[in-house]
Amino acid sequence: MTTNINLFTPVQLGPYTLANRMVMAPMTRLRAIDSIPNPLMATYYAQRATAGLIVTECTMVSPLSLGYINCPGIYSAEQIAGWRLVTDAVHEKGGKIFLQLWHSGRISHPSLLSGELPVAPSAIAAPGELHTPLGKVAMETPRALESHEIPEIVAQFHKAAENALAVGFDGVELHGAFGYLIDQFLQDCTNQRTDEYGGSIENRARFMLEVVEAVASVWGENRVGIKLSPSNTYYGMGDSNPQETFGYAIDALNRFELAYLHLMEPNAVDLANRHVMNPVTPYFRRIDKGTLITNGDYDHPKGNNVLALGDADLVSFGKLFLANPDLPKRFELDVSLNVPDPKTFYGSGDKGYTDYPFLAVQSTGS
Ligand SMILES: Cc1cc2nc3c(=O)[nH]c(=O)nc-3n(C[C@H](O)[C@H](O)[C@H](O)COP(=O)(O)O)c2cc1C
Repeated sequence: MTTNINLFTPVQLGPYTLANRMVMAPMTRLRAIDSIPNPLMATYYAQRATAGLIVTECTMVSPLSLGYINCPGIYSAEQIAGWRLVTDAVHEKGGKIFLQLWHSGRISHPSLLSGELPVAPSAIAAPGELHTPLGKVAMETPRALESHEIPEIVAQFHKAAENALAVGFDGVELHGAFGYLIDQFLQDCTNQRTDEYGGSIENRARFMLEVVEAVASVWGENRVGIKLSPSNTYYGMGDSNPQETFGYAIDALNRFELAYLHLMEPNAVDLANRHVMNPVTPYFRRIDKGTLITNGDYDHPKGNNVLALGDADLVSFGKLFLANPDLPKRFELDVSLNVPDPKTFYGSGDKGYTDYPFLAVQSTGS
């Protein structure tokens, strides 16, 4: 059965009525020099304020959660003050913005962490290399967290959520995708613990649920979202039974009345790497009882189609919003799009960041 819903049908998301169903997906851009948000970032996000909702780039909850140079944080006074520029600028343009809270876990390196080893559920190194102050280096074997350290990390998420509330965000999204710490706990390829945070799927989902509970105690459940990527193979991720693992995790999230679940479909690399669930969204739609945002290679017709089929409630766009600050307007008028330039995705100042052109202003002829 199809519905009349499309990307421009207003929607209720938690306490907010959004003007459209187009979400700007979280995107790391590495413009936060020394991890402090700045006026350039405020301009970038404000340019994209016609999205129904903006989700920011992933943001560190503590110094040990750093995965990349010039990723922003939300634990120091300078970082908090920097984010105020962003929330004010977006609100001035009438936009809504959620902060993506993040701990990178094993995706880091001692040279980013003042010499300390990255932490993870288990001492298993991620394959591949990382950009660090030493150049591109192989990722080292992380240190497995002691059981008593895990509540400290949950507390860091709680504190970061408090800081996000104080600085004027409209909500927060937990980064549970892409092989970072929450995902590392969930999937069995990275979690071989024998305590109450490992082994059974109930145990592997415990960290995620404790973080959700901590953050929801600050924000209320309906202003917290979470992003999951059941078919992502990035950083060597994969679970022996993703249907069961993510099915359990998503069913457990139904205990909370969250603002949304944000699900990422596999991309071309995931599909080429190995056999993964594809598509993800319709399968988990049957389990999720709340608002669902789907993501992954959507364009205007595909976005309208997934909404009309009722497989999702909103659609997030990453690269298209990166290159088109006025993406909703362009979809509405059905005009051509700017093409994203991967060379400037990460850390090149304003080039490829705030200089993608808007549509020329049309003369009204009056
Ligand atoms: C430059 C870039 C940075 C990204 N950084 C993040 C991030 O910080 N957090 C996150 O959850 N996903 C991140 N992603 C993934 C996007 O949110 C999205 O899932 C992905 O781009 C697929 O959507 P798209 O096909 O519409 O671009 C990033 C993607 C890009 C292109």
